[in-house]
Amino acid sequence: MTQSTGKQIDWQGWLERWHRQQAAYLPDRAGRFNLMLDYVAAQRGNDPLKILDLCSGPGSISEVALKRFPQAHIVAIDYDPWLIEMGRQTLGRARIKWVEADLRRDEWLQAVEAGSFDAALSATALHWFKNEELVHLYKNLAGVMAEGGLFMNADHQPGQAPRLEELGRKLREEWQTSNFNRPGGAEDWEQYWQAARSEPAFRELLAERDRRFPDREHGHEATVNFHREALFAAGFKEAGEVWRHQNDAIMAAIR
Ligand SMILES: C[S@@+](CC[C@H](N)C(=O)[O-])C[C@H]1O[C@@H](n2cnc3c(N)ncnc32)[C@H](O)[C@@H]1O
Repeated sequence: MTQSTGKQIDWQGWLERWHRQQAAYLPDRAGRFNLMLDYVAAQRGNDPLKILDLCSGPGSISEVALKRFPQAHIVAIDYDPWLIEMGRQTLGRARIKWVEADLRRDEWLQAVEAGSFDAALSATALHWFKNEELVHLYKNLAGVMAEGGLFMNADHQPGQAPRLEELGRKLREEWQTSNFNRPGGAEDWEQYWQAARSEPAFRELLAERDRRFPDREHGHEATVNFHREALFAAGFKEAGEVWRHQNDAIMAAIR
């Protein structure tokens, strides 16, 4: 993309800033992605893979998965037109199909093949979904996954111990604050989006983003038990937590 001035947009730079900002919120963010892919590899070996990146943003999981599985094909779905454009511009389209869709609704099902995905992966996103929206998403997800396919979700998924949860939140906030406040520290979420908004070439995509997410509140953070029950109800045969750090967990489920 170029501005009317002809200035080239440094999408790779924006992507790197995205990763840096996200990593300052999430202990061992890269380790989470790698662990999810380890599970996929342990289950599938190096078979050609069809992977769904749910709420992909700029394709953060896809980027790692493409390198790790040279045979893999990915469908990356997100509703944010700017982040998806960043993904298109940095990862290209050779082995990725980018789908702009609201995963709370059903339209995305038209862009994918039923029963076809060996793995579906998601990170730091499903906490935006209300409980009933998660139940609906998991039903749709069960329909697009292959028998035996693996779903993995790394996200805020507290247990059911409120005082421990409170302590975890306090520790996390202290760690995040130190990441932002130290000299040369990371940009936070607000600063990142403010910077993007100050770039005239992004005006249209960001206006569309605002239109698509008009009532963005704080997330909902369903408990790990809620996720497990919703996955079973959707038709997954096994579901369990495979990693935890404070209130974040990776839930894995087999279709
Ligand atoms: C914090 S970002 C994480 C993106 C990416 N998984 C990563 O780890 O970098 C959360 C993503 O969820 C997406 N998202 C939130 N609600 C969505 C919805 N209803 N449908 C599709 N995408 C959604 C947002 O657009 C955003 O890209």
